[in-house]
Amino acid sequence: MHYQGNTDEGSARYWDDLAEVYQRETRISTTDFHYGPLLPGDSTLQLLPNLGKIHALEIGCGAGQNSIFLAEQGAQCVAIDISKEQLAQGRKLAKDATVDFRCVSMDSMDKLGEFDLIHSTYALPFSADPARVIQEAAAMLKPDGTFLLTTGHPLYAGEWLDIGDDEDGVFLPNYFHPESDVRMALDDGAISAASYWPISQLAEWIHEAGLTIERLLEPSPLPIPEMSEKEIQEKVPYDSADWRTLYPQLARIPVVVLFKCRKTRTPA
Ligand SMILES: C[S@@+](CC[C@H](N)C(=O)[O-])C[C@H]1O[C@@H](n2cnc3c(N)ncnc32)[C@H](O)[C@@H]1O
Repeated sequence: MHYQGNTDEGSARYWDDLAEVYQRETRISTTDFHYGPLLPGDSTLQLLPNLGKIHALEIGCGAGQNSIFLAEQGAQCVAIDISKEQLAQGRKLAKDATVDFRCVSMDSMDKLGEFDLIHSTYALPFSADPARVIQEAAAMLKPDGTFLLTTGHPLYAGEWLDIGDDEDGVFLPNYFHPESDVRMALDDGAISAASYWPISQLAEWIHEAGLTIERLLEPSPLPIPEMSEKEIQEKVPYDSADWRTLYPQLARIPVVVLFKCRKTRTPA
């Protein structure tokens, strides 16, 4: 198949089809803020700014577990996603937490308000125009506002190869132009490929948008094999059987790169 890049229509169809299974098979906490599979949540990483009555926007929210968590701490939350089905899962989950779920593509979002905090966990890989997403997010931040961006780590675009003598390692044909991951295709041809970019490229887009990087993290997973089921339930905010089978790889290669940024200037 020749892959031409994600479109809003293809992504919506793909994530609509997947939504129910994704939410059923993945346990995503609403009592901690998550950054990705098997990774410590914000109760450990402590990257969130002071909460309370802040205005927050989530980009590519899925069922919006992070927004629900923030709303329960008093934040006023807007959460956008391209998939109506993911949003429907979110509305069901939110119960009393007031999250303003909206069906909007991150690739064509216009000003949705002014926010103290904009956050996005593993949605940017599905954007057709990531530089624009970062620019639009920066434009919606209040001065001194925080942008918490978690996206796919470029090393995770590599392929695991057996290199003999019971050893394996990651092979990345081209770090500067990592391949998009087109393995995520459904039988009917709907596709939403994850793209990866070099960390320096992401940092340039962030800088050009007028944001200053305060922290850059490549978090490693919690030690799942040494933890009891009870500890996993309590301490791992994003977990699934599939991700657990990948633990030996996740323990050696970061699955995400995480930027905590502050709006320090308005770009020219
Ligand atoms: C891997 S899921 C992550 C969802 C959520 N952030 C979480 O951590 O559970 C990626 C999400 O990005 C959404 N998405 C894909 N393309 C999008 C687009 N162009 N605009 C907005 N959301 C998009 C998908 O519908 C999906 O809900």
